Amino acid sequence: MTRQLSSERQPRKSSPPGRTRGGPDGGAEAPGSVTPHPANTLNELSGEEWLYFTKSVWSTAYPSELGHELRRAHGANKPPRLMARLIEFFTRTGELVLDPFAGVGGTLLGAAIARGPRRALGFEIEPRWVRIFEAVLAEARSEREGRGPLLADLGPADPGGPRSFDPSGIELRTGDALELLPTLPAKSVDFVATDPPYNVQLRQTMAGGPLAARFANRRTDYAMVTDDPADLANSPDYPTYLDRMEEVFVELARVLRPDRYAVVIVRDAYQGGRYVFTAADLAARAARAGLVPKGDLIWYQAGTRLRPYGYPRAFVPNIAHQHILVLRREVGGRSEVGRREVGRSDRSRRDGAAPA
Ligand SMILES: C[S@@+](CC[C@H](N)C(=O)[O-])C[C@H]1O[C@@H](n2cnc3c(N)ncnc32)[C@H](O)[C@@H]1O
Repeated sequence: MTRQLSSERQPRKSSPPGRTRGGPDGGAEAPGSVTPHPANTLNELSGEEWLYFTKSVWSTAYPSELGHELRRAHGANKPPRLMARLIEFFTRTGELVLDPFAGVGGTLLGAAIARGPRRALGFEIEPRWVRIFEAVLAEARSEREGRGPLLADLGPADPGGPRSFDPSGIELRTGDALELLPTLPAKSVDFVATDPPYNVQLRQTMAGGPLAARFANRRTDYAMVTDDPADLANSPDYPTYLDRMEEVFVELARVLRPDRYAVVIVRDAYQGGRYVFTAADLAARAARAGLVPKGDLIWYQAGTRLRPYGYPRAFVPNIAHQHILVLRREVGGRSEVGRREVGRSDRSRRDGAAPA
């Protein structure tokens, strides 16, 4: 376990050190957009970085790094750089990120490599994933004589230059999110970034058969499911899964500070002979719990292995994208910032600014 989370780091007021002036596409930034807007209380990004983030389709492939050889044992591990980008948009340095379904720690590692590290707390029900996370952490910490890894500059694939590693504010706790969430104080979390189990998990998605021995794309070769009945993937059916996720959303709405965001990464499914719009179903449940849907970023995973599910008789999709649902904690379904800004709406309209 890492250092306790109680030691608050102060949010930074100026731009993170080491930020390059190259724009998201590698070009020069527009004049005046290098530093955050003085009215920006959400993050530490320049105007151009902010705009780049809001594109609704993301197609970046990230390199295998930060203990990926160990983390890949978990079939749904997320790239720390992807999580760092989300964290950098929705928080400021030192703020607290929560991941109630942390797996092998993609979100926590993302907080550690964020430009201006954030604190992060994760919950994970499966001790095996927690042990892998701890091993990754120990290995990373020992690099460069204890200074941790320096992540390469990926240019436009991850604008902003190289990334360093500061895990001093991250912690992963073992247990059931539905039991641990109620232990957190109300309005104590600045941002939630999570990818929960995507559905009731099928143990096998390919039928196997004689061809499975020869062709990897005919085998079900991922490992994610536990035997724990509290694992949401072990819910008896899809309606029960949605009910339990709604319980999670109610808790997330309670622990989030007003006007702050949650992102939920989820993949739709094809089960029982039909397409299941899991992302849309979860967005509806989140809205009922007071988390207002604000966006749906599509993350295209170009490297997804294509499997001949319906071949040669029927169309069955190879789902190569994930939804990154953007939700916001708004009191009474309306932003507190929005309410405060009502009196300024005329000026905003004149300036061409859209309401939040
Ligand atoms: C999609 S994975 C998350 C992967 C993670 N983002 C990563 O980078 O490794 C979902 C995780 O939720 C965990 N999980 C399922 N039910 C849980 C529960 N009730 N409480 C806490 N964790 C749970 C699973 O064990 C699994 O590791």
